[in-house]
Amino acid sequence: MLAHTDLVISAWDGSRLVGFGRVLTDYVFRASIWDVIVDRDYQGQKIGTEIVRRILDHPTLQHVELFWLCTRRPGFYERLGFSAKEQTGMVWSRKNSGSQA
Ligand SMILES: CC(C)(COP(=O)(O)OP(=O)(O)OC[C@H]1O[C@@H](n2cnc3c(N)ncnc32)[C@H](O)[C@@H]1OP(=O)(O)O)[C@@H](O)C(=O)NCCC(=O)NCCS
Repeated sequence: MLAHTDLVISAWDGSRLVGFGRVLTDYVFRASIWDVIVDRDYQGQKIGTEIVRRILDHPTLQHVELFWLCTRRPGFYERLGFSAKEQTGMVWSRKNSGSQA
């Protein structure tokens, strides 16, 4: 998973990994943000906000016109300027499809 991820942003307290977020992108039109997570003991200290800001501000992503993500925590991303109005997301789950393909 990490080897095929285009950009990883991580937060550390010494040698302890306390925050993580990753991006898959074509570096031009689209970037999808995945797995933004902050250690429970470190939540509420703006680490999640900083991870998302560093993704949006990253020098290699400055041409990307649309950042896209799936979340069960829309409130967190709305504060960062994300909107649910632009697109309707749909998913196909191999696990739930019954497909063996
Ligand atoms: C959601 C998550 C990444 C936020 O990280 P964090 O470092 O705790 O968040 P921040 O400290 O940067 O919070 C920024 C603001 O968002 C708010 N916020 C945090 N989590 C929120 C949530 N789930 N819903 C609404 N608002 C939220 C905070 O209250 C804070 O508000 P403030 O600016 O008024 O103080 C973190 O709580 C987490 O890892 N949760 C579990 C995993 C998860 O849900 N990941 C999301 C991808 S599906």
